[in-house]
Amino acid sequence: MNRPAVFLDRDGTLIEDRGHLSDPVQAIFYPETAPALRRLQAHFLLFIVTNQNGVSRGVLRPEDADRVNAQVVRRLKEEGITIREVYCCSHTREDGCACIKPKPRFLLRAAAEHGVDLGRSFVVGDHPADVELAVNAGARGIYVLSGHGHKHRQELSAPCGIVDGICGAVDAILAARAAEVLRDGGIVAFPTETVYGLGADALNRTAIRRVFDVKGRPVTHPLILHIADASSLDKWVTEVPDAALRLVERFWPGPLTIVLKRSAKVPDEVTGGQDTVALRVPAHPLAQRLLKEFGGGIAAPSANRFGRVSPTTAGHVLEDLGTDVDFVLDGGACDIGVESTIIDLSAGTPSLLRPGGVPREAIEEALGRPVAWRPTGVRAPGCHAAHYAPHAEVRIVPAGKEQDYAARLAAQGMRVEVLAPEARTLYARFRDADRRGTDVILVSLPSESGLGLAVVDRLKRAAGSRGIATQ
Ligand code: TXA
Ligand code: MG
Repeated sequence: MNRPAVFLDRDGTLIEDRGHLSDPVQAIFYPETAPALRRLQAHFLLFIVTNQNGVSRGVLRPEDADRVNAQVVRRLKEEGITIREVYCCSHTREDGCACIKPKPRFLLRAAAEHGVDLGRSFVVGDHPADVELAVNAGARGIYVLSGHGHKHRQELSAPCGIVDGICGAVDAILAARAAEVLRDGGIVAFPTETVYGLGADALNRTAIRRVFDVKGRPVTHPLILHIADASSLDKWVTEVPDAALRLVERFWPGPLTIVLKRSAKVPDEVTGGQDTVALRVPAHPLAQRLLKEFGGGIAAPSANRFGRVSPTTAGHVLEDLGTDVDFVLDGGACDIGVESTIIDLSAGTPSLLRPGGVPREAIEEALGRPVAWRPTGVRAPGCHAAHYAPHAEVRIVPAGKEQDYAARLAAQGMRVEVLAPEARTLYARFRDADRRGTDVILVSLPSESGLGLAVVDRLKRAAGSRGIATQ
């Protein structure tokens, strides 16, 4: 099958643009180049396409241009990145060659010789010719503002994404690919500022059923519908009460999920057949990119197997779901680390269904009234005691006594760990402890203010879940 590729400009895109480079030591990589390309190469073949017109002008020897190119490839190889080929045009525009950007000669060659699917490929560069090259080859262009990007920005004529540098380009490319997977009915794990989600097109019932399958989650447990911004809210709900408007304005995009009366457009598969729908606008830049690129709603629970703690890195997702998920959009570690706050505004009186990333106090302040905490029953999996629990036993102990307890349990031959009760690292530490074969995790409860309430909630569930079967 033909594979998509990314064609990378060299100077100003991967390395600093310092004029005609004749000595390999002059090739200075941007610090983000190697990490960005590493994320890319799992999904795309990588090529370099560079114009070195200094050769034709007589200011650069061809063998020196080759040495610099070879050095760039070698350095990337050392970083674990494979460049399939370097396409180097040594002409000036006046030479009338067929290979100078934006002529598509090299890309057509890559299609023929490497089986590249140009329609699903990208060109990244800091010159308008890079973007025109993409258009001429039937690929998509991404313009970077590194190198000479700022200088030539006004000359851009072809449609393209505009990003700060190579890292932004890779984000844009991966988000576009993930959106394509969703459009094809696939399922995609993606980062949010709380935890990773396992997403499907909210209007594709088959894809949503697959999310339940892969998670091993009962189909009556509703999913959160993620949208890019509040402008499409009307499509998904029948009415937006004033309280919802106030919360939307204050907390979206952000870690707040709002339950409202659903519209007929929302499939039963998303809501578990209920007459309400949970909506969220995540703030994570990659989630935002994905949602905008996709254009529709993404129904997503957290990207863990049912009964496991939520994943806060792409590595956790792979640990849990492996190849069952079609695409994992890696956005690094989640900032907040616990799930979104869920507030129900579907029944008149606002109620808190799950404490999370937005503190209850902030919601009460925005609404100008106290909000009762009413955990839902069986339909809210986040409210099952068995949720949020590691395999190790979690024991809550008085603050300051952790080490005493630890010493006592260790003397009985138990493998013990003391955990700092912090939202951002809580789930990752649970997973670490399990990986180390820990028997008991000792932790003291933090104050319930701010994110503390969510941490206390998750710790109590984890501690209280012993003996309750997980699925
Ligand atoms: O931070 C988060 O909320 C993450 C990220 C991925 O957005 N998502 C998440 O999804 O935690 P999940 O499926 O693990 O938890 C969704 C929660 C469940 O407790 C579910 O019962 C509740 O949202 N929920 C969904 N729709 C609901 C509805 N219509 N009424 C009441 N609760 C609902
Ligand atoms: Mg350049």
